[in-house]
Amino acid sequence: MSLPEQILAIQSAALEQVTTVGSVRDLEDWRVRYLGRKGELAGAISQLGAVSSDERRAAGQAANGAKAALQEAHSAKLAELKVSAKQDNALDVTLPGIAPVVGGLHLTRHTLYEIIRIFTGMGFTVFETNEVESDEYNFGLLNLPPDHPARDMWDTMYVSDDVVLRTHTSPGQIRAMRQFNPEPLRVILPGKCHRYEAVDASHESMFYQVEGLAVGEGITLASLKGVFEAFAQQMFGSDRKVRFRGSYFPFTEPSVEIDITCNCLGAGCAVCKGTGWLEVSGGGMVHPTVVRNGGYDPDIVSGFAFGMGVERNAMLRHGIDDIRHFYANDLRFLKQFA
Ligand code: DAH
Repeated sequence: MSLPEQILAIQSAALEQVTTVGSVRDLEDWRVRYLGRKGELAGAISQLGAVSSDERRAAGQAANGAKAALQEAHSAKLAELKVSAKQDNALDVTLPGIAPVVGGLHLTRHTLYEIIRIFTGMGFTVFETNEVESDEYNFGLLNLPPDHPARDMWDTMYVSDDVVLRTHTSPGQIRAMRQFNPEPLRVILPGKCHRYEAVDASHESMFYQVEGLAVGEGITLASLKGVFEAFAQQMFGSDRKVRFRGSYFPFTEPSVEIDITCNCLGAGCAVCKGTGWLEVSGGGMVHPTVVRNGGYDPDIVSGFAFGMGVERNAMLRHGIDDIRHFYANDLRFLKQFA
């Protein structure tokens, strides 16, 4: 390749490359490479002395042309980069705004609010009580004196010898009755409970319950069934039915487990394990001793009570198979319900 041809090749390579330059720093690299004192153009010019005079003249003209073309390309590119840098910093009011991350309700709270909405719709009042309870309220006044074998039903976290983290919302029954007596009452007691529990797919050491309590004249187990049917139909679907199975709790007599029909109607789904029934709550008629501990006369009034797990309700409603998802703080899980 003759020297003028070499210079023209440098020029066209440089002009092609400059189109790809995207920053002032890259442009400076480009300038040093082609126009710098030790750059490609200077390298070609340094060979002028070694060629014939005809070629030298042609090469000199080519070099002048190349230099002018590259300098012009350099200033054009620099102007272009400055304009776009300005645009980057400018406020463009036509751009869509940046949406802030919006939080949502936790599934437990969402479920709790739904339960509260349904029961307040039936005339129940929300009554919140202590999360840290005396042993007496958590157990004794609920017909579970010290050393009662049924205390084993609740693995308890003790704060001191006679203070516990409540293992259930049932102690709120005593507090509500002591506040309301001798008036009839209809309350739900939502709250956080704790158990010294081996955690697995259906047990957490911290969870929520909602307790229900109605005390007054003429309240029967049929009242509980009617209330629960109305709850189940609003919470799970208008076709749901309720059944009672005999059970045991020290603070109710008789005691029942409350089941509702599963969505699959016994077709054999995983949520009900093929039984067709979902166990949603414990309940029963408030034991006369507990009625008396609340300050009422069990010969005059009677009451029903129930207690259910909030997470369990959510699990049955949404087909969630592991309670540990609730408090693992994995947003991929939580966002589905927010
Ligand atoms: N407190 C019971 C528990 O945590 C649940 C329960 C059962 C509450 C029967 C009640 C009831 O009010 O009547 O296992």
